[in-house]
Amino acid sequence: MNILGIETSCDETSAAVLGGGKVLSNVVSSQRCHTDFGGVVPELASREHERLIVSIVEAAITEANIAKNDLDVIAATAGPGLIGAVMVGLCFAEGLAWALGKPFVPVNHVEAHIFSPFISDEAGHREPKGDFVSLTVSGGHTLLSVVRQDLSYEVIGRTIDDAAGEAFDKTGKMLGLGYPAGPVIDKLARDGDPAFHRFPRALTSGSQTSKSYKNNFDFSFSGLKTSVRTWLEGHDAEYAQEHLADLAASVQSAIVEVLVEKTIAAARLHQASAISVAGGVSANSGLRSAMQSACDKHGIELFIPALAYSTDNAAMIATMASLMIERGKYRVELNSYGVAPFARFDAARKGAR
Ligand code: KG4
Ligand code: ZN
Repeated sequence: MNILGIETSCDETSAAVLGGGKVLSNVVSSQRCHTDFGGVVPELASREHERLIVSIVEAAITEANIAKNDLDVIAATAGPGLIGAVMVGLCFAEGLAWALGKPFVPVNHVEAHIFSPFISDEAGHREPKGDFVSLTVSGGHTLLSVVRQDLSYEVIGRTIDDAAGEAFDKTGKMLGLGYPAGPVIDKLARDGDPAFHRFPRALTSGSQTSKSYKNNFDFSFSGLKTSVRTWLEGHDAEYAQEHLADLAASVQSAIVEVLVEKTIAAARLHQASAISVAGGVSANSGLRSAMQSACDKHGIELFIPALAYSTDNAAMIATMASLMIERGKYRVELNSYGVAPFARFDAARKGAR
């Protein structure tokens, strides 16, 4: 089966073809038009998706070396995301499916991230044998879930304020690192001292009210922002600049430590023998190595997507559609065109699909 996946939920315009269960192409264009604004401007994102969608989809089909009519299914992100941005990919995909007379599959972007560690390309792929704990960390979401083989999952924790990616981006912005700051902090942190300053680890065993936070799987990152701001106000700019790498390493370790501690605790509580980490922040080298060490220590198998599939991409959308069809979660013969896009994850969970 050849599946075309389309992703436009935020600032990546992407199209991919999955053929015979393997990624045949995955074309991603990351929008540069937001750099001067320090964050994604929704209307600009939608317009940029509109400008690029046709050529990106054509490139994905060409690279996969198939004809349009060889596509069996068209899938696209239906949410959550910036609603205007989602609309561009969703409407385009439905229009294309309708024109080609092929079934359309709406995909939940967060679910696609959850299953992205199992995208299959030439490098082959592994999958956990039983239930596993998934940490999904992106610019918009921080979720801990227990995932079952039938693709059902239970969210056991989430952020109560900022997402993990947002924590990287917003503290990085204060440090003058531009947008998105996550990858820049990652790079700088490699030469910095994570013990330079101890920023807060909220809702963990290391926080002041530690006892009450045992088995609490929610996250909070807004205090970290305040703490970075307070530190910057208390030190002169030159000193901060001299210690930029140390600050980056200290911020990164505060975020990573919380993510690792909670994910391992959740896996142990739920007796899961595997953990998967996905979403843009799973590209973070500090998180990758700390999670690997913690998993090794506890005899837990770790699944993390290849870097190309950590940040937003359409290969994960096509893969999710394929899993939904294969595991009976979606009947392609329903031919459900006219899917309403959704902006928020909870709205989707409550019945949009
Ligand atoms: O999954 P994603 O591409 O888009 C959303 O669905 O949000 O995630 C983007 C987020 C941004 O906040 C970005 O700063 C962060 O992922 N990110 C990183 C790294 N690469 C991307 N954060 C830390 N370290 C990285 N290497
Ligand atoms: Zn995403």
